[in-house]
Order: sequence, then C-alpha cells, then structure tokens
Amino acid sequence: LLAQDTYLVNGELKKWAGQMTPVYSTISSTEKYEPTLLGTIPFMGEADAMEALEAASSAYNNGQGLWPTMKVVDRIKCMEKFVAQMKTTRTEVVKFLMWEIGKSLGDSEKEFDRTVEYIYDTIEHYKQLDRNSGHFTKSQGVNAMIRRGPLGVVLCLGPYNYPLNETFSLLIPALIMGNTVIFKPAKHGVLLISPLLEAFRSSFPKGVINVLYGRGREVASPIMKSGKVDILALIGNSKSAIALQDQHPNKNRLRLVLGLEAKNPAIILPDADLDLAIQECITGTLSFNGQRCTALKVLYVHESIAAEFNKRFAAKVDELVFGNPWDKSVSLTPLPEKEKPAYIQELIDDATSKGAKVINAKGGEISDNFIFPAVLFPINKEMRVYHEEQFGPVVPILTFKDIQEPLNDMAESNYGQQVSLFGKDIKTIAPLIDTLVNLVCRVNLNSSCQRGPDLYPFTGRKDSAVGTLSIFDALRSFSIRTFVASKDN
Ligand code: G3H
Repeated sequence: LLAQDTYLVNGELKKWAGQMTPVYSTISSTEKYEPTLLGTIPFMGEADAMEALEAASSAYNNGQGLWPTMKVVDRIKCMEKFVAQMKTTRTEVVKFLMWEIGKSLGDSEKEFDRTVEYIYDTIEHYKQLDRNSGHFTKSQGVNAMIRRGPLGVVLCLGPYNYPLNETFSLLIPALIMGNTVIFKPAKHGVLLISPLLEAFRSSFPKGVINVLYGRGREVASPIMKSGKVDILALIGNSKSAIALQDQHPNKNRLRLVLGLEAKNPAIILPDADLDLAIQECITGTLSFNGQRCTALKVLYVHESIAAEFNKRFAAKVDELVFGNPWDKSVSLTPLPEKEKPAYIQELIDDATSKGAKVINAKGGEISDNFIFPAVLFPINKEMRVYHEEQFGPVVPILTFKDIQEPLNDMAESNYGQQVSLFGKDIKTIAPLIDTLVNLVCRVNLNSSCQRGPDLYPFTGRKDSAVGTLSIFDALRSFSIRTFVASKDN
C-alpha cells in the first residue's frame, strides 16, 4: 500500500497533510477481480492549485526567469539529468502501470522504454532545431536572426491509458522549449508518477515543473480561471478540453495542444488478404481492451466478403484470453474505469434492441471489472455505438457495397484521426488514398492504426486534435518563432 502524499511545488517535495483519496487497483492476485486498495493520493484543492500556478508563473517571470532565458546547452543538461534518473525508476514505474491501469507487462515495459527514447530523441531534435533556427537569413535588405522561444505557463493534463508516454509527449517538449509547467496526472495512473518526483525536483530549477493531484474541477479549473495559463496541453476528451478552454478569461491568448477523441474506421476491400486484415483488426480494435484513441472503432467490410470475415473475426476474438497483466499468455486485462463494463453493456443493449446481434459466443460476458469483447453486426446510424467513441471492448461492424459509403460516413463524422485500408489492387487503392488523406491525418495501408513511431506527426482533423504531436512537431507546438532584425547600413 503506497501513500503518495508527496507532491512537487516550487522545487520542494511537500508532504500533504489534508484529506487523502483512496486509489483502487482493478487487478487482483485472487480469482475474483474485486478492486483492491492500492494506495492513497492527496485530494488537493484551489489553494494548492494557486500555489503551483504562482510557482510556475514566477519561474517563467514573463520570459525573464532563469529557465526561459537559460542557454540551450544548459536546458539540455537538465533534461539529460532527468532522463538518467528516470531510468533508475523503471521497475517501480512498470509495476504501477500494471497495477493502476491493468496494462500488460510487455506493454508497460514498452511504454517506459518508449518514453525514455522519446526524451533522448527530443533532445536531439531540439539541438537540431536550435542549430537551424539560429542561422542568420536575409530578405529585402533585412538581416534576421530567427530563433524559437517559449510561450509561458503550461497546464498539462495527461490521459489514463498512456499515463507516462502520452503525458510526457506534452510535458517534455513543453519543458525543453523553456516553458514552465503545472502537471496534473490522470485519475488512474497517479501513483506511477511518485517515483519520478525526486528526478523532477533535482533536475530542474525551482518552479519549472510542479506536480499536483486532484479532480479537474478543483485543481485545473481555478488555474484556467486565473487567466495566467498560456498553453493548455491536454490528452483526453473534447468535453473536458472545451470546458477548461472556456474558463480562460482571455481565450485569444491561449494556445491549445490537444489530443482528443477518434472513431478510426477500417475499410476492408473485396480483394483484401483476409488473414492479415483479421489479425490487424483484432490488434487494432482490442489491444489494451480498445482503450486507445488510435484503436479501430468501427469496421467497414465489403458485402461480398462480410460473411467470411465476420465468422473468422468473431472466432478469433473468442480465442483471446483474459487475466492479469503479468501473465504473458493474456491479451485482455481488467478495465481500470469501474463504470466501463456497464457502459459497454449499454452500447450492446442499445445496438441489439435496434437490430444488431452479438456474433461471437463470449461477447458481453461480464465479471466484476471486465467485459468480454462483443462483436456487433450489423450496425446502423441509429445506434449509439456508431457515434460514440466506445474506448473499450466492443467492435461494431458494417457492410458496404460502394466505397463511397464509408467515405461519406467519414466526411460526416466529427472525428478525423486515422483510417486503415485493407486491399491489394494498387489501381483501386492509389486514388482512394488521395481522398482519405483529406479526411484524416494518417492512412494505414494493410495495417491497424497507431500513434508511433514518435517521429511521425500525430494529430487529427475536426474534433480529434488541435496542434500536432510527434517529436519534431511538438517542439514547434510549444514555442513561437521570433527574430532579431538588422538592416544593412
Ligand atoms: O490513446 C491514444 C494513444 O495515442 C495510442 O497510442 O497507437 O501507440 O497505442 P498507440
């Protein structure tokens, strides 16, 4: 049992003396998956949020603070010190990734290692960006020394499904560009930050990074209402992003870096390699129980192959094994959000009451904090599962006759992150790609949707994202181009 009663404000690891919130784990060492008390975390409020804001604002000091004015080489040294210390916490952080959010051992290790690699790659790109933007250039008799500078104070809120990797894909570029940060981890995935607090404290000047815990409305809202935040960096749902954005008294001044919802489709053409398409759709829809913004959330199968695809896909889903994250034979793990099984059940009930069937034998079996993935067919637009981002183990399937049908649906959708396209004939695929890239931001050929490699842009159209992540783009998202001009005399 871990009491995570330490938080970080103004370069000080403080002990919390107030009310603690229990944190339950969804995994269990017994047969019965009852939530077990894993630890406790501080339940902070407005006064604590204001203290962190004050620390971040003073450290930035309108661009005149130690951190925003620090030489690039010295900022890099701080980041290198941080990542070296972070590496020593691997065993502990990985353990908490499994316990807190039910991520498999392999995926938890991958998340940690990917984050370390992300930090090193960011440092390399930062050096490159600095070299390139530091050059003199000349136009119409004006010499310019162009540089990239920070924007100010960042409020950083990460998601529960990648509490380390995705959160750090906001935090690290924000910091290295010279901004100061207030970071509040997601509700699930708080304890895993505790081994990193000392690394933050000892690597960065005071007030540059502040770590707080608590509910959004009690901690994030007062910070936004102060009007002192320059960047809202959030990965989560649009509702929270809009609510927070609206609380800022001067929205025009606020820069947004948002990774939001998606409803990524897979389109399976008549000539697709079915073995490959089925395997990729299994991973795409159900890895980490479908709790990924990049998960495939609706499958469009050409009517000529639908019977075969559905039969084989449903059988493969039923072969998936549920259990604890540390068991290597397992691919489905308990769901950290206790409301999720009931929500998925609602989607299933709604779809079946409107004509869909659960086509896999085990689909919808509920036990405590787990629901076995349900494959639903045929889906129509009257059903909630067609519109809502399920973020969990339910797979809706539709058929199409003409390729224009899924394209029209994608054009009408509120989302526009990625698509997977399965087929062989290049003459069909090539013109389709030209249309698809205008509907989403990444087209995956004969493979499922995903975020990485982290060097590639990660963004979305419409309600899926604002600003672009990836190592290269994130450095730009968290900075502004400035220049010093001089004329030839
Ligand atoms: O939840 C959204 C994540 O960005 C998914 O990342 O595709 O690497 O699993 P991933």
